[in-house]
Amino acid sequence: MNVLLLGSGGREHTLAWKIAQSPILDQLFIAPGNAGTSLSGTNVSLKLDDFDAIKKFAIDMHISMIVVGPEQPLVDGIYDFFKSDPQTKDINIIGMSKYAAQLEGSKDFAKEFMIKHNIPTAAYETFSAENISDGELFLESLNPPYVLKADGLAAGKGVLILDDLEKAKAGLREMLVDNKFGQAGQQVVIEEFLSGIELSVFVLTNGKDYVVLPEAKDYKRIGEGDTGLNTGGMGSISPVPFADKAFMAKVEERIIKPTVEGIAKDKMDYNGFVFIGLMNVNGDPFVIEYNVRMGDPETESVIPRIKSDLLELFDATGKNKLANASLEIDPRYSTSIMLVSGGYPESYEKGKKISGLDQVKNSIVFHAGTKMNEDGDIFTSGGRVLAITAFGNNLEEALANSFENAQKIQFEKMYYRKDIGKDLM
Ligand code: AMP
Ligand code: GLY
Repeated sequence: MNVLLLGSGGREHTLAWKIAQSPILDQLFIAPGNAGTSLSGTNVSLKLDDFDAIKKFAIDMHISMIVVGPEQPLVDGIYDFFKSDPQTKDINIIGMSKYAAQLEGSKDFAKEFMIKHNIPTAAYETFSAENISDGELFLESLNPPYVLKADGLAAGKGVLILDDLEKAKAGLREMLVDNKFGQAGQQVVIEEFLSGIELSVFVLTNGKDYVVLPEAKDYKRIGEGDTGLNTGGMGSISPVPFADKAFMAKVEERIIKPTVEGIAKDKMDYNGFVFIGLMNVNGDPFVIEYNVRMGDPETESVIPRIKSDLLELFDATGKNKLANASLEIDPRYSTSIMLVSGGYPESYEKGKKISGLDQVKNSIVFHAGTKMNEDGDIFTSGGRVLAITAFGNNLEEALANSFENAQKIQFEKMYYRKDIGKDLM
């Protein structure tokens, strides 16, 4: 079959790398892709908000599956666009309806869903500019730290966690009145602070059956010891040592099952990933957030651990045959270290030549922000540049492999965190 994968980051290179290994694949196209994806398929320059152009390409190239990497096209309704058109309705889209994508696109929608379906999460209320004074009263009723979340998509920046009540009130005002996050902050979810360790759980579902993929932990802050600004993610590890059988059984019973049942009860048209951001609070899992896609950089450590054919799994999802699907997982540890441009997540330079890629051994290099020129030279083109994924029989061994190979790669002002996974050793 011919497959079109949408996106251009490390997540998409990893998905492309995995899909390209499938015996049922004929041709793989990635739009717009990066230098790495061009090693696994053919990059095509399509804009992800130009649904008409994507449709024309899909028809012309006899595409029978579209895998949507990032959330924005899903929140924008790409699934409904294809499903409502007689020419494209039979394409298996790994995604979900615009309505269902609100699980990520609206924090208020997601919280309502969790409460309705009895899924453990932090207590919350939602406020808009009209009832900002109620929001201030609600803040006064909570203990610090205060958690404020812009309702809509805010490129991972829409959450404020503040220790001080007056700062929390000011933050609320900035979002609701000063439009700090624009449209995304027109409503603000204020919630109880959950204290614990986070992990990311991934489920592939069609709202009826599901498979649970390996869990992961990501490292969001730019600085070592989890300090400094939030980033897209500086590295990930899988499996997560504290997510033992007993804990994962609680996750499945209390969170995954009611989530999939909730998707069915609410008649959501779903055929893709649910990424559940969880907090382990003294051994009990609580949902921090839903995303409707795979995580990045979690994908870079999770997908290489899947031994089964991912394309067959996607095919089974679309054909309602997920119940028969089996998932074979590599029991080894996988770790992924993100090499980023100096200055990221604030301003940074692009166009730096990358060297040393040919020296890498016992690791997989997934490209995030890279570009190739006509001579095949590779240059940086984003903040997060490359993810170095390696396996090991334990966490120490996998990390040692990742770091050893990270050192072989060079570009001007390259930076990476040297403490990924160290908190769990
Ligand atoms: P989100 O965009 O919802 O994932 O929030 C970003 C980050 O804020 C999460 O990864 C958590 O580290 C933190 N966070 C969000 N909600 C809470 C909460 N209720 N309690 C503690 N930390 C939170
Ligand atoms: N790594 C977190 C995310 O993809 O949102």
